[in-house]
Amino acid sequence: MTLSTDTRRLRYAMVGGGRDAFIGGVHRKAAALDGQIELVAGALSSSPDKARASGRDLFLADDRNHGSWQALLADELRRPPGERIDFVSIVTPNHLHHPVALAFVEAGFHVVCDKPLVHTSAQARELVAAVARQGTVFGVTYNYTGYPLVRQMRHMVQGGAIGTVRKVVVEYHQGWLATAVETRGSKQAAWRVDPSRSGAAGAMGDIGSHAENLLSTVTGLEIESLCVDLSAMGPGRTLDDDGHMLLRFRGGARGVLMASQICVGSENDLRLRVHGTEGSLLWSQENPNLLVHAPLEGPPRTLTRASEGLCESAARASRLPAGHPEGFIEAFANVYLGVAADIRAQLQGRPADPLVADYPRIDAGARGVHFIERVLASSVSDRKWTPMHDGEPS
Ligand SMILES: NC(=O)c1ccc[n+]([C@@H]2O[C@H](COP(=O)([O-])OP(=O)(O)OC[C@H]3O[C@@H](n4cnc5c(N)ncnc54)[C@H](O)[C@@H]3O)[C@@H](O)[C@H]2O)c1
Repeated sequence: MTLSTDTRRLRYAMVGGGRDAFIGGVHRKAAALDGQIELVAGALSSSPDKARASGRDLFLADDRNHGSWQALLADELRRPPGERIDFVSIVTPNHLHHPVALAFVEAGFHVVCDKPLVHTSAQARELVAAVARQGTVFGVTYNYTGYPLVRQMRHMVQGGAIGTVRKVVVEYHQGWLATAVETRGSKQAAWRVDPSRSGAAGAMGDIGSHAENLLSTVTGLEIESLCVDLSAMGPGRTLDDDGHMLLRFRGGARGVLMASQICVGSENDLRLRVHGTEGSLLWSQENPNLLVHAPLEGPPRTLTRASEGLCESAARASRLPAGHPEGFIEAFANVYLGVAADIRAQLQGRPADPLVADYPRIDAGARGVHFIERVLASSVSDRKWTPMHDGEPS
């Protein structure tokens, strides 16, 4: 008997995320956190033997533990609908996002894909069209927007709590690529500095895209034009590992975005500051349970993740009582909860609760790819100031 989606967990498969991989394990913990979703199948690594060994580590059934994503997809399509996965999570290096996502969407499966979505805007357009045609749910793990206090910040900025936004400063600084770790066995570094796998951008694609998503989600502002300076500081590197840019937003606000992976001592130092006519807000991902609000009049105050009076979206994104730290995995899990809410709603033919189905979708992924392309265009242009969209003033 096929159980209705109200009486069973959603089933998913993972592509990538094998032994020694980084983010696949985070996805699995995040997906499992609320007991809504279970991993039932996978093609977990680039080598068939390692893929199967990785699947055995996770107790996948032998007949759902595949040596390639093509074998995984073919097997799912052979199964009766009541046994199939509901969605696939794609956690491979960037160059595989497009072929794998397109194949699963074309076959009618929902998808969670890590960022950056794909390598080019042409690929993004193809994927957006496929998702629209198939009506599939598509989440992109810009996971930082899953933090409760990022949702609170969005509520306050877009609700006018700091007046009209004048200036936005977003920075994402890491130090793990300060030396040539790609030549000393770091698999994560090796593909990130290789344009054929990473894409045309380095740090700007890897973490600058998170910064763009965070500022756009929180402020709702649209970048009108940008002026970019990128560098490849690491020996032998061709892709940027450090960069900064000035931003002009539609409506007159101004901003600065910095992303670097060569800042010795920086870990995952992602910060967002939004300055308005009536106050400022500051949030930092290494201390994500705090949000500083400095109003124009009176002393600054610090909101905590479980403060009285947070907006419903922030309150619903929290799991623990005040004072118990929540972090990266919980924020990531909120993306999975949102995707699961949309899939269940679709299966049952009803709208999803918008407070839960609050996660970055394929349009955010496509915008991120376009952003990366414009960053690169500005960095090689003599005029530097480059419009976000062709034909618009810079
Ligand atoms: N959202 C975030 O915070 C975040 C953080 C880190 C990485 N990422 C993104 O996640 C993705 C993976 O990054 P990572 O650091 O985990 O990389 P990684 O190198 O640690 O892991 C990649 C995995 O993909 C597997 N793989 C490669 N080719 C494959 C294929 N053909 N079939 C199946 N599996 C294959 C590898 O064997 C490995 O298991 C990237 O797109 C990256 O940008 C996102």
